[in-house]
Amino acid sequence: MRKKMVAGNWKMNMTPRETVELIRTLKPMVSDTDVDVVFCVPAIDIVPAVEALKDSDIGIGAENMFYEEKGAYTGEVSPNMLADAGVSYVIVGHSERRQYFNETDEIVNKKVRKAIEHELTPIICCGETLEQREQGVTLDLIKKQIVGAFMHVSPENAVKCIIAYEPIWAIGTGRVASSAQAQEVCQGIRTTIRNIYGSVIAEQIRILYGGSVNAGNAKELFTEEDIDGGLVGGASLKPEFAKIVNYKKL
Ligand code: 13P
Repeated sequence: MRKKMVAGNWKMNMTPRETVELIRTLKPMVSDTDVDVVFCVPAIDIVPAVEALKDSDIGIGAENMFYEEKGAYTGEVSPNMLADAGVSYVIVGHSERRQYFNETDEIVNKKVRKAIEHELTPIICCGETLEQREQGVTLDLIKKQIVGAFMHVSPENAVKCIIAYEPIWAIGTGRVASSAQAQEVCQGIRTTIRNIYGSVIAEQIRILYGGSVNAGNAKELFTEEDIDGGLVGGASLKPEFAKIVNYKKL
């Protein structure tokens, strides 16, 4: 039985001071749950977030990292810096990074492997544009993204990774994928993982859905067979996030 996970992706929101305030508000609201809860925060907010969450089961994630450990890479943050700061998860290959920062499947794969080396759990994002969906190439494209992301990743490491299916047309648009659409692709992702690593790993790996998740649609999405929770953007900055975490009570 896969444990559900609800992760917030704060994106480029919240100053360090606002981070502490938001965590103070949300922490008591998301503490009594059997769901894994993660806050993925901007790099500058990691240290105050870790401090504000000590003595709590809530995990901290980064939104990005570089795949080198140190050196002349002005402005980048390395996996060992994240691990040392108390980070457990890192989002890799978010569509916003693919779109605005030219992150390719090859770069995603380098980051995935480096994160694993430092015992960070990668949350690997994949997803299609509206145009690609309309062309009917969604499943092929997602398969390519997944195969690329997991290149040279051993089965023991693959099973620890988390995958997030985020259709680009559903991100920040209020236009959520129907639970059937999301389930179809998440099932396709599991089949791809099964073809690479076999059934045991495919049954264990967690696949999240992201894109306009809110308190009104979380329950329907998260109770689909192959959807193991959500990666939440806009609604993760509000008390609504607690409703999403506690979706079973909705
Ligand atoms: P929204 O929930 O704001 O649509 O964002 C989804 C997302 O990109 C999470 O990574």
